[in-house]
This record gives sequence, C-alpha cells and structure tokens, in this order.
Amino acid sequence: MSNSTQPQGSPIIIAIDGFSSSGKSTMARSLASRIGYRYIDSGAMYRAVTLYGLNHGYIKKNGTIDVIHLIKELPSINIDFKVMDDGKQHTMLNGIDVETEIRGMEVANHVSHVATIPEVRHRLVDLQQEFGRQKGIVMDGRDIGTTVFPDAELKVYVNAPAETRAQRRYDELRAKGDATTTYQQVLENVKSRDYQDMHRAESPLRKAPDAIELDNSNMTLAQQDAWLIRQVNNTTSLNK
Ligand code: DC
Repeated sequence: MSNSTQPQGSPIIIAIDGFSSSGKSTMARSLASRIGYRYIDSGAMYRAVTLYGLNHGYIKKNGTIDVIHLIKELPSINIDFKVMDDGKQHTMLNGIDVETEIRGMEVANHVSHVATIPEVRHRLVDLQQEFGRQKGIVMDGRDIGTTVFPDAELKVYVNAPAETRAQRRYDELRAKGDATTTYQQVLENVKSRDYQDMHRAESPLRKAPDAIELDNSNMTLAQQDAWLIRQVNNTTSLNK
C-alpha cells in the first residue's frame, strides 16, 4: 500500500472492539492503511450472512429466521474483501460485490439477531482466524480481542458514551438528508443495540482484560490516529 510505513518487528494482529457508532471501523481502516496492514471488518461478515439469508428466503421481513436451513448453507457461504475500482475495500459474498446492499436498512434490521446464532458465529470466527493466519491485520468487531484472537498482540476497546455516539449517528443521518429521525430515536436505537451486543449468550461484547481502553469522545480523527500509531509502535517494539 502506498504512503504506508510498516511498523518495525514481526507483523502483529490488532483487535479493535467496541460499541456501534464508536468510530472503530474508521479508526481501524485508517490505521491499516497507514501501516500497510490488511483491514477486516468483521461486522460486514455478519451483514453478508444476513443478506444471504434474506436473498434465499431464510430470513423473513417479519423477523422470523429459518435457522435450520441457514445453518445448513453456512459451508457454502464464502466471504472475502476486495479493493475495487473506487480504491475502497468492498465485501464480497460468494464472489459478488455486496458492499452497498449490506449497509441498507433491511440487513441492519436483522443482523443483530443473526449474530446471536452460535453456528453462524463459529463459521465466521473460523473465517476471521483464517484471515489472521499471516498476521499483519487490523480487525474490528465485538469479540475480536476475546474470542477471535485472544492472543492478539494489541487490543483496543473503544468505549465512548451512548450520548456521544448517538450524536455522531444523528449528525451523519442529517448530513445524508434524513430530516425526520430525532436525536431521541437515535439514542434509543444505540442503547438497544448496546444492550443486545452485551447480553447475547454467545461472545457478548466485553473488554478483554489485556485491552487498552479508549474513550474517543473528545478526540479529533487526527488525534485518534496518532494515539493508535503510538500504541502500535509501543507493541511492535516489544515484539521485535
Ligand atoms: O459493526 P456492525 O454494525 O457492522 O456490526 C453488524 C452486526 O454484527 C451488529 O449486530 C454486531 C454484530 N457483530 C458481532 O456480533 N460480532 C462482531 N465481531 C462484529 C459484529
């Protein structure tokens, strides 16, 4: 990758976990590009399985999921990431670019439910571990430092207050032209997603004991990037 400086020492695994709208994907993507590592968005993988289920009729619009059939299909669901003509990394579901579709409301409405299915998690954790085999990756999600890579050399847990994250999400919606959703509605949605992430039986969101906590509420993107690079340099200098 151009303009990137690989950190010194052997390549490491960097796990970034945190709540929704905490800015962890932006932070993980930017870090990966600066240090020439591969970025993997594990949330996109849960979204891709959800899209597969919707497209094949295993997930109905009313929320019912045909778990038995979805699970049976898991071995034939392949997910990868590819840099496309726009220079951005897109999510590929069985070789098809689904980047736009997985960000839509239909997927968003069902994905947290799909992410509670243990067999789905096991399949995706296997794929995620495969991505990390060569190290040199930054992966973000909810269970990366706890379940996927418990031995990751650097773990960051992003923990900004719900009100801060709701305000960010609200500003994003406004910027996209949504003039109807209120701040209160966004805050309730953020809180309910936090609750689901923290209370599911399988791999709930929690801070790994050896993760470094980051509250980025009052940080600019540049300050956040600089903070992360310092953590990487501290870790890789110990890992030489
Ligand atoms: O980060 P995101 O909003 O794209 O995540 C989509 C969903 O997947 C969300 O419900 C949380 C879930 N998820 C998860 O359970 N484990 C992960 N490692 C990543 C995401």
